[in-house]
Amino acid sequence: MTGASTEESSKLWWTDAVVYQLYPRSFADSNGDGRGDLEGIRKHLDHLHAIGVNAIWLTPCFPSPQRDHGYDVADYFDIEPTYGSLDDFDRLVADAAQRSIRLLLDVVPNHCSSEHAWFQAALKAAPGSPERARYWFRDGKGPDGAEPPNNWRAIFGGPAWTRVTEADGTPGQWYLHAFTPWQPDFNWYCQDVVDYFDRMLRFWFDRGVEGFRVDAVPVLGKHPDLPDTPPAPPGLTDAQAWGRNIYGHFYETGHDVWKHWRTVIDDYERAHPGRHLVTISESYGKPEAVLAFLRGDEFHQSFAFDLMLITWLAAPMRKAISDSIDMLGPVGGTPAWTLNNHDTQRIVTRLGRLNSNDPAAFTGNNLVYVDAPIDLELGRRRARAAITLAAALPGALYLFQGEELGLEEYLDMPDAAREDPLFIRTNGKELGRDGCRVPLPWTSDATTSFGFSPVAVEPWLPQPQNWGDFSVEKEAADPQSMLSWYRILMAHRPLLSGDLVWVETGNPDCLAFERDGVLVVLNVGADAAALPAALVAGRTVILATQPDTTSQRLPSDTCVWLSTVH
Ligand code: BGC
Repeated sequence: MTGASTEESSKLWWTDAVVYQLYPRSFADSNGDGRGDLEGIRKHLDHLHAIGVNAIWLTPCFPSPQRDHGYDVADYFDIEPTYGSLDDFDRLVADAAQRSIRLLLDVVPNHCSSEHAWFQAALKAAPGSPERARYWFRDGKGPDGAEPPNNWRAIFGGPAWTRVTEADGTPGQWYLHAFTPWQPDFNWYCQDVVDYFDRMLRFWFDRGVEGFRVDAVPVLGKHPDLPDTPPAPPGLTDAQAWGRNIYGHFYETGHDVWKHWRTVIDDYERAHPGRHLVTISESYGKPEAVLAFLRGDEFHQSFAFDLMLITWLAAPMRKAISDSIDMLGPVGGTPAWTLNNHDTQRIVTRLGRLNSNDPAAFTGNNLVYVDAPIDLELGRRRARAAITLAAALPGALYLFQGEELGLEEYLDMPDAAREDPLFIRTNGKELGRDGCRVPLPWTSDATTSFGFSPVAVEPWLPQPQNWGDFSVEKEAADPQSMLSWYRILMAHRPLLSGDLVWVETGNPDCLAFERDGVLVVLNVGADAAALPAALVAGRTVILATQPDTTSQRLPSDTCVWLSTVH
């Protein structure tokens, strides 16, 4: 392993950190323009401190036309003006550090915005020019080049190619974009691109950033000749079709980039003793493929998405947990658990779906639309149990803003208000991700978007009318609220630091394990579970997600932590 040895890495801060994914546009608006900003974050750092957050991961906050809300970066070396300035960023880093909270950024290396200066220069330059070599410009097929260069589909819908008009006004070459036409893919075989991102990583490390979440990792490596991929079976969405693209998904040359980044990061650490940087890979895929990014000389961590995408059943949940832990054992890695993010329907809604324990019906993610009835109270009860399980697992825990308030997905958001390119590019066939990105409620004052803004102004996405019931102000005053639960739970997390040992309860609806002698049991069943007397003798309840829990009896959809035997 490069950088730190395996033994040392088990002690590094990020191995068991609580990281808060913060979506700047929707966290808090300090200047009254209806969009969140860095100053809004700085003013609410105490909220994060009270939940016991060790680090914030800011989703992209660089200048961007916001066609994909920051995942279309126009300048990797500055701050989106509506969010603030580099000075605001420095202030945020400093104030966060005073609360022992580190800052992680989100780097988007597969593509930039079509408004990035390089892409604008490429549009003006001739075919075959060095400006175009930074992207994937190709001539089209057919006698007049009117057909896309290959059969790849874009993840957000439509062909993965867009034709440009050349400087002389004639129809010209095509450029590749895995996502939308506003997100041209970089050509990572071009040295300019490699050098540019080396500079970017160091620029932000110099400003005190302690690491990066790395976007769309499996998409970056591409076959240099961009051949047609074998056609996907009919009926798949374009996103699923990309998942089958053997020349553009988990393609092996991506590893060269990540290995290079690791040398840049390790060199930086060596030159700055005391800094411990982290990169976390966003890669949805088969365990072996994800593991390939973690062999010690690439990423430090990769999200363990299984618990987020899984059915509410004990056996697959246990398998997902043990697979993640076992898989990482040989490379000395630790999982990074997450139950929510900005691309997925909120857990309260997912687990409130009445088919969320039916493996045949539950798709597990919202890139494929599901339409089962929802019981939000059930969802909140299960969400509380799920985070109590996840917080007990070895590894890091990544939270997504608003889950600490028990927010639901805003499914009824009017179509006209939706901004997600996934919704727009699929003509609404895919509902998209706006529903989990709604501005946060801080107070019960509806005139200021529930305290999101300092004045009466339309927020960039509308909020549900009942949002005030889930505000930070209201929940902080209620000891039974989700927010109070998160505070209590995270404060207890340091109790558990040892290895996980599975324990048998004899009940197929329960999964149970011990860490440091503490017994953690989750009952996902519809009935209360009687826990075996021999297992619970001498133990008392440390934490339980339902009040009527005892060491012998675990209600439905409940998680309990029981003390070591007294
Ligand atoms: C991010 C998405 C984004 C896409 C394109 C994903 O993996 O999480 O939010 O739309 O990459 O950058």
